[in-house]
Amino acid sequence: MESIFNSPNPILFGVGAAARAGSELQKLGCKKVLAVFDKGVEQAGVAEKVLSAIREAGIGVVIYNNVQADPPAWSVEEAGALGVKEGVDGVVGIGGGSSLDTAKGAKLLQTNPPPLRQYFGRTGVVTKPSVPLIVIPTTAGTGSECTPGGTITDTEKNIKTNISGVGCAVTLGIVDPELSAGLPKSVTASTGLDALCHCVESYTSAMANSISSVLGREGIRLVGQYLVRACNNGAADMEARAGMAKAATLGGMAMSGAFCHLCHDIGRSLGAKFHVPHGNGCAVTLPQVLQIIAPVKTEEVRYIARCLGAELSDDAPAAAVGKAAYDAAHRLLKDTGLKNMKELGLNREELLAAVPDEVVMQIEMEIKAFGGIAPPPLPVTRELVAEIINRAYDEN
Ligand SMILES: [Fe+2]
Repeated sequence: MESIFNSPNPILFGVGAAARAGSELQKLGCKKVLAVFDKGVEQAGVAEKVLSAIREAGIGVVIYNNVQADPPAWSVEEAGALGVKEGVDGVVGIGGGSSLDTAKGAKLLQTNPPPLRQYFGRTGVVTKPSVPLIVIPTTAGTGSECTPGGTITDTEKNIKTNISGVGCAVTLGIVDPELSAGLPKSVTASTGLDALCHCVESYTSAMANSISSVLGREGIRLVGQYLVRACNNGAADMEARAGMAKAATLGGMAMSGAFCHLCHDIGRSLGAKFHVPHGNGCAVTLPQVLQIIAPVKTEEVRYIARCLGAELSDDAPAAAVGKAAYDAAHRLLKDTGLKNMKELGLNREELLAAVPDEVVMQIEMEIKAFGGIAPPPLPVTRELVAEIINRAYDEN
C-alpha cells in the first residue's frame, strides 16, 4: 500500500541539551524571542533554566506565561499578538503539549493574521512561512517536538481541532530528559501513557506504514521498560527519564502518516467536553481498545502485550492475545496510578450521551479527508464506542 512518512524536524537530544537553547537561537539569527510556557513550568523553575541560557547568549526574551490546558484559540491569539507587538524574530515553547502547541500557534500568527480559526484543519489550509520556532518539552508524552502541527480547542464549537502547515512548523526540538526529573508521578503517568497510546495506535492503525511502525515498536518497548520506573523514582532514575523521553519523541514521529485512532478519538472528546487531561483521557480505554482490535491486528497486539510484560506463545490465538494485552495494559494503568473514569468524576450517562456521536462524526470526517480510509483498524459504530466506554467505566 502506498503511504507517506514525513521526516520530522531536527531533534537535539540529550541530558543537559536545554543549555544549548541560546546558541541554537543564535545560529538561527534570532535577536529577540517570544518564550511561551505556563505557570506550572514557571513555578517549578524549569522555564528559568532555559530562559537564562537564552539570555546568556545575548538574546532578548518576551514572556507569555498564560498558557492554558487544552489551549483555546483566544490564548494562542494572545501569545501571538504579544509577539507581533514586541517585534520578535523567533518563538520558543517550553513545557508540555499545551505550551508547545500554543507556541506553534503563536509562531503561525507572526506572519499570518488572526483570527486563528481560519487556519483550523489538517488539510487544505495554506499558511505563510514564519519565524524560527524551538520547542523544548518538559514532559515525556506528546511528541509535539516532532509533529507538524498542534491541537487547539475551538471554544465556539467545543471541540479539539488542529493547526498545521509551514506557518507553525518546528525548526528545532530540544529534548532534555533532565527537565522532566521533577514531574510528579501523576503527570509522569498520564504523559507517558499518552506516548504509549501514540505508539500503539499508530502501529495498529489501518494507515500504518512500514517506517512509522519501526518507530512505534521501539517506543512501545521503551515504555514497557521504563514507564513504571520513571513513575516510581523519576527524580533519580535518569536512565528511565531518558528512555521515556525517547519513547515520546518516537511516538510523535510514529504518528506521521499513520495517525492515532480509538483511544485518542475518545480521549479528545473527554478532553474537550469533560476537561480530562489529554494523556489520562486517551489511556483510560487502552485495555479495552487493545482487546477489541486483537482479532484484526493480532500480531501487532501480540508484540504490544509482550512489551508490557505478558507471556504469550507465537501460536496463541487472537482471543488469548487480546486477553493478555488487556491484562497487561490494565496492570500498567494500576501500576502507574492512572485515574479511572470514576476517579475522574465522570458520569456514565453524560459520557454515553456525548462521546459515541462525536467519535463517529470525527471518523466520518477523517474518511472524507483521507479519501475513503481512516486510522481505526475496524469499522467504528456508536455501539462499539459505547461498549468501550461502558467496559472501561466498569473494569478499569
Ligand atoms: Fe496524544
